[in-house]
Amino acid sequence: MSEQVTERSDMWSNSYIFVLAAAGSAVGLGNIWKFPYIAGENGGGAFVLVYLICIAVIGIPVMASEIMLGKLGRASPIQALLNLTRKHNRSTNWSIVGYMGVVTGFLILSFYAVIAGWVCYYIVRLFSGEFTGADANAVGEAFGAFLADPMQVLLWFSIFMVITIFFVARGVTRGLELCVRYSMPAVFVLLLILIGYGIHAGGFIESMAFLFTPDFSSLSPQAILIALGHAFFTLSLGMGAIMAYGAYVPQDVSVGTTTFTIAILDTVLALLAGLAIFAIVFAYGLVPGAGPGLLFETVPIAFGNLPGGALFGGLFFLLVALAALTSAISISEPVIAYVSERSRLTRAQIAVIIGVVCWVLGVGSVLSFNVWSDVKLAFFEWTFFDSLDKLTQLVLLPLGGMLIALIVGHVLPKAVVYEELGLIREKAQQSWSYIVGYVTPIAVFAVFIIEAIREIQAHL
Ligand code: PHE
Repeated sequence: MSEQVTERSDMWSNSYIFVLAAAGSAVGLGNIWKFPYIAGENGGGAFVLVYLICIAVIGIPVMASEIMLGKLGRASPIQALLNLTRKHNRSTNWSIVGYMGVVTGFLILSFYAVIAGWVCYYIVRLFSGEFTGADANAVGEAFGAFLADPMQVLLWFSIFMVITIFFVARGVTRGLELCVRYSMPAVFVLLLILIGYGIHAGGFIESMAFLFTPDFSSLSPQAILIALGHAFFTLSLGMGAIMAYGAYVPQDVSVGTTTFTIAILDTVLALLAGLAIFAIVFAYGLVPGAGPGLLFETVPIAFGNLPGGALFGGLFFLLVALAALTSAISISEPVIAYVSERSRLTRAQIAVIIGVVCWVLGVGSVLSFNVWSDVKLAFFEWTFFDSLDKLTQLVLLPLGGMLIALIVGHVLPKAVVYEELGLIREKAQQSWSYIVGYVTPIAVFAVFIIEAIREIQAHL
């Protein structure tokens, strides 16, 4: 088994770098772009509460499971699962989770890079001072005009894709480390500045109330599935990204501490982004449920009206783009690792192939916001972008996560798992087995069933 590791076992030279890389994977568009807009679309408080519960009850155990599987299997997710099931005489069919993750990775990266392209364009737009003194209307129109122009969107998507492939091809870990070490605290500071603006502009109290006062009457069964899916998306779980990174961790890394650190960091950043964005929404009388454009229709207003806003605003979008880049790199890692084990292709060649496939798929998402905005999947009324987004977030990631929990809870021998987690006390062992073996998979399964019944009823 060790042959597979030797080549890249030096990837994270210590546990601190692994934490940074995993946090770099987790913190990205999911926190700053997606969380606020889906919280807005799903009514705020109650949705946020369900999301937090999903992080705690499902996200954390699955993240610990993924890091552990990577560490035990020491290979790409597919190979790691093959290694482990063979070693313990279990069915190798469980490796299907690894294959699912590879497919999911292509789908996610294709639309993730489109949104990251929007962010790149906004770096330039803010630095240029275009939004200085702009009001909500002007900012909204500027965004609409950009989205309506497929060539422009395609251009920025392609730019982000090329940058991602460049870094993926080089297999940089140092760059990743530097990027995360400096850009994450900086994002944090800029979000605090935005919140300060919200307090000054007068929307902050309402923003707090919106995000933290649960009103369960507004919570639909679909919102529960969305919150669950987002818990996986935002923590990079269910598709092997964290498992692939886990394959390179030094033996002495504590799975538990790492998991909690990443989950807390990720959640705090999402909540801060939400608070900042909704403060602007309420200060300017905008609608919380504006959809995927929310970030781009709110944040420029704040920077447009702050002293030095062009500089700080440009910097903000630059940092968001870097956060997206460190996530995008991790999305491709399961594929890269698998193909390099199985073929003689170099990392660069594989990266280019991934780039081309994702680019072709991504064109569909680019067009979803303009030329193809009326082309919708029958039954669900989803555009191409919606379809990929929902298929991955609502089906593939939760399903992958559920299977991962089942593997750790029921397929691997318990003693191996306890040893890896350093669980010595019997109480701790029992609680872990109970959570990962029953609570987590049953919770995901129950949400699936409830949602399926609702869909069937709605379409009868
Ligand atoms: N967690 C990343 C984000 O929040 C997205 C991601 C999903 C990364 C799945 C890896 C795997 O932006």
